[in-house]
Amino acid sequence: MPAHFLTGAELSAAQLRSLLERALELKAAPLCSQALDGRSVALIFTKPSTRTRVSFEVGIDELGGHALVLRSDELQLSRGEALQDTALVLSRHVCAVGVRTGPDATLAELAQHSEIPVINMLTELHHPCQALADLLTLREAHAELEGLRVAYVGDGNNVARSLALLGALAGLRVAVASPPGYALEPDLPLPAGASGSLELYTDPREAVQGACAVYTDVWVSMGDESSADERREALGAYTVDDALLDLAAPRAFAMHDLPAHAGEEISAEVLYGTRQRIWDQAENRRHAQKALLEFLVMPA
Ligand code: CP
Ligand code: NVA
Repeated sequence: MPAHFLTGAELSAAQLRSLLERALELKAAPLCSQALDGRSVALIFTKPSTRTRVSFEVGIDELGGHALVLRSDELQLSRGEALQDTALVLSRHVCAVGVRTGPDATLAELAQHSEIPVINMLTELHHPCQALADLLTLREAHAELEGLRVAYVGDGNNVARSLALLGALAGLRVAVASPPGYALEPDLPLPAGASGSLELYTDPREAVQGACAVYTDVWVSMGDESSADERREALGAYTVDDALLDLAAPRAFAMHDLPAHAGEEISAEVLYGTRQRIWDQAENRRHAQKALLEFLVMPA
């Protein structure tokens, strides 16, 4: 059974820690590893992407490998070929497969039949590759993640869930503030070995108390478009702006996985100002995912 990366909870706390340290090394010397020399990685997208596609494609190239970007409507999957058969065939050609799709069950079925590692590049419930880059960004700012408080303000979506799961595994105290009806599950099981915690709030001002970073994501995720108006109304008081950052810890910075909607979940002043690490965070996708690919395809 190959190692997969579907929620991030597959990692131990020690593996996550060493993966982040390896990502720092790869960031310092982007061409130092040829871990994918002569090998190919398939990247299947059923939803749009800018950062995930570019960071994986360039990162695989930097590791000496070849990225095959496959739009799902170009695959026989779109004509009803079984996920099992797709997984079996990809396993004969490539050394890993990344998938961006809707249902987590689709990803799980592909992984079940795959003889190579499967990587979640975003599903309805999880975005663990984003969380790796988020933790790398925090690690760049703080030598030790254990015990740091990080706030997430807004929709309790895939990005929030992965931040909570992988953040807790890294030892963070994650505080999530969402309006009623948009909260993360209060009983979300944290990964085995997690030393951190998850606390849920409705008031963003309470969640950001003592936080070294204040994270937000879009109010309308891919697939949520039919409820866009009610989401904007419910989440209207959950904007990350200078006034909210002022209530967090001294020198706290804003985070966002992007794409952003300036004036909705984040103010333009914060998004393009000096109190953010958002653009570093976007770059860190590549370095974190290269460390992940090394880990998955070259197990110790
Ligand atoms: N943050 C993120 O996953 O961005 P994309 O949707 O552009 O890949
Ligand atoms: N929550 C967003 C993340 C986009 C990267 C979505 O699922 O659309």
